Amino acid sequence: MADKTADQSGDEREKRIAELKAKMQASAKKAKASAEAEAPASAAPAKEAPAAAVENPAPAASAASAATATAVASAPAGEAPAKSGSNGAPTNGAAAAAEIAAATPVVSSAPAFQEDSPEAKARKEMNRREFLTYAWGGALGLVALQAGVGLFFFMMPRFKAGEFGGVFFIGPESALPPTSAPPDPFVAGKFWLVNTEDVGPKALYMVCTHLGCLYKWEQANNRFECPCHGSKFTREGFYIEGPAPRSLDTFVISIEGGEVAVDTGKKELGAPSADSPARAVPA
Ligand code: FES
Repeated sequence: MADKTADQSGDEREKRIAELKAKMQASAKKAKASAEAEAPASAAPAKEAPAAAVENPAPAASAASAATATAVASAPAGEAPAKSGSNGAPTNGAAAAAEIAAATPVVSSAPAFQEDSPEAKARKEMNRREFLTYAWGGALGLVALQAGVGLFFFMMPRFKAGEFGGVFFIGPESALPPTSAPPDPFVAGKFWLVNTEDVGPKALYMVCTHLGCLYKWEQANNRFECPCHGSKFTREGFYIEGPAPRSLDTFVISIEGGEVAVDTGKKELGAPSADSPARAVPA
């Protein structure tokens, strides 16, 4: 171009120089207008970055990044140092601030001391309540199970029918011996069965009420006599004489299904000797 200009005349050279100046000025105006047009768009997100950083209690590194972004974003676009990007296009401070602001949320999102959300707190509280509920339920279930087992064994008969401690079925009332008949021994049940005119059948426990000897029926004397210390009792079991403190003990008799039942698990103590209507020597 220098050679071409040198070949031109003075007027033509001045004209050519004026054209070049006009082009340069137009190019400069165009570049300035383009920079001003880009500056507002890029400055807006850069100004929002500090606000986001303040709302979130981020660590010091995040705050420093936000401050840097604020400082860069606050610089006027026209004063920003021109830098060349990878494509050679000019960049400015607003664009850099936008890049830093875009990177800031990623850094500040690290939950270093983040508090539990209300949903998380409610979930934890629910877990504790569920645990206590299950614990109380299990304890109550265990207590109920123990009570049920205890009640079952309490209600369950400990003795089978026909063995001492259990129930003995004698038969229908019509099969009872007459009131004048001698006592009928039931050795397995350890009782004498007698039928009386006053109170009906009675089951007399075979053990003497003095010291526990087995008394015997003496048909010749029509009474019970103890061979150990001489206590004597009537056919109905009333005390007559001797060291026995009371009349003979009896077992409970009932009618079950039309049969006379003697429950050898339920014993009734005889009346005191002094109250016996058959006492030989009244007090
Ligand atoms: Fe029967 Fe003593 S044990 S009188």
